[in-house]
Amino acid sequence: MSFKNLFLCFSLIGLIYSCSSDSNDDLSPTPNPDPNPNPSGKVTYNGNIKSIMSSFCTSCHGSPTSNGAPMSLTTYAQVVNAVQNRSLIARINSTSNPMPVGGLMSQTNRDLVQQWVTDGLLEN
Ligand code: HEC
Repeated sequence: MSFKNLFLCFSLIGLIYSCSSDSNDDLSPTPNPDPNPNPSGKVTYNGNIKSIMSSFCTSCHGSPTSNGAPMSLTTYAQVVNAVQNRSLIARINSTSNPMPVGGLMSQTNRDLVQQWVTDGLLEN
């Protein structure tokens, strides 16, 4: 290999290296990968689930219940009970029998509820 080719080779490696090491210099700020406020990084009832329930569920599953809903979803214990004994996870992902009644919540919200179960149904 001639000196010229060797030089080209090294400049090419240098160019590739400088490109790849710059790849994090994006103009847009990196979005927070975990919006969860819990310092342990886990999904909790008070941090995440309570607000989802009051936005999408308690209009019927309130206290008292309305529109024929069979139980309240206004406290930690009630929501845990619905997960364990009333197929809450299946219903929020069901296309044939969805909860809320009108149509499913966003994938993000459904994932959060699922992650809450996976993380151990933490209250705080
Ligand atoms: C518009 C009123 C309404 C909203 C909003 C609503 N539900 Fe319901 N829900 C009902 C009614 C009525 C039933 C009983 C009939 C049925 O099971 O489909 C029910 C049943 C359920 C059941 C089954 C209970 C059982 O023991 O069989 C679960 C679990 C449930 N809802 C969870 C939720 C969750 C979680 C949300 C919010 C993401 C939600 N629901 C939003 C009206 C509602």
